[in-house]
Amino acid sequence: MKHILSMSDLTNEDVYGLIDTAIDFKNGKKSEIGQDKFAMNLFFENSTRTKSSFQVAEMKLGMKEIAFEASTSSTTKGESLYDTVKTVESIGASVAVIRHPQDKYYEELINNNMNIHIINGGDGTGQHPSQSLLDLMTIYEHYGHFDGLKVGIIGDLSHSRVAHSNAEILTRLGAEVSFGGLDSWYTDEFQGIGSHMSVDELCQEMDVVMLLRVQHERLSSEENQNFSKEDYFNTYGMDMRRVEMMKPDAMIMHPAPVNRGVEIADDVVECNKSYIFPQMTNGVYMRMAMIEAVLEGAKIDSETNQERQAVLR
Ligand code: CP
Repeated sequence: MKHILSMSDLTNEDVYGLIDTAIDFKNGKKSEIGQDKFAMNLFFENSTRTKSSFQVAEMKLGMKEIAFEASTSSTTKGESLYDTVKTVESIGASVAVIRHPQDKYYEELINNNMNIHIINGGDGTGQHPSQSLLDLMTIYEHYGHFDGLKVGIIGDLSHSRVAHSNAEILTRLGAEVSFGGLDSWYTDEFQGIGSHMSVDELCQEMDVVMLLRVQHERLSSEENQNFSKEDYFNTYGMDMRRVEMMKPDAMIMHPAPVNRGVEIADDVVECNKSYIFPQMTNGVYMRMAMIEAVLEGAKIDSETNQERQAVLR
């Protein structure tokens, strides 16, 4: 595992391995695999959770962070992403966590012989593997399995890298995924995975209800005018009336940031079925597991190389 870019690159075994390691970290496992190594977090889109929890994860593994702010970097002078990452590699960073508005921005980086581990912190409307893995960890901690679980994903599916990442991997792990929200967001890709249901039906039937933020910044002006916040909340929002319809041990999840009063009511955010803040706590441990996996992979590669050279000598 040199890089972690998309959930589709991970086998089911990789996913279970990362969940086990993240739970071990949560239970007190220590690792100094990052000692004497540098990490750089290159965020070209805003972030609170992903960036700060990668920073905490890096520090807990003994790494030092080289500070980077896109707004004061030479990308504002026209430097390409490739040149920025090649620079980060040249000055000695071992890991680059990157969030970028371009879908699959990483393809141009991994096709070159870049000696740095890239972890995708979110690409355009593509993938968000660290969010998906921390979501899986949180579900696994609660239910102990994925097989047969009913998961409903409600909201702005077509613009959501969380929906893209989670729909595919949850299905692969044996969960039955259904969808809710505006019909226009239920595109061919999601139609091929699961059915579209009303939010009331989803609340009654699902083991996990995963809410998505309405990403006003990614909607066209026409889409933004199609509904008001109040209309959205009334038709698709999670309020206490809908929480009461849910199964006793069902979970409410949301990657956050939340739009209070749009996709979720104030009093639902921290209600007893909500795992929104535990998801964030788990994010640190999962990101430690991801960083350890890429660095451990490099260690194994280097040990295998040394063994090969010893045999040759
Ligand atoms: N969930 C998530 O990706 O949050 P941030 O945008 O704050 O990183």
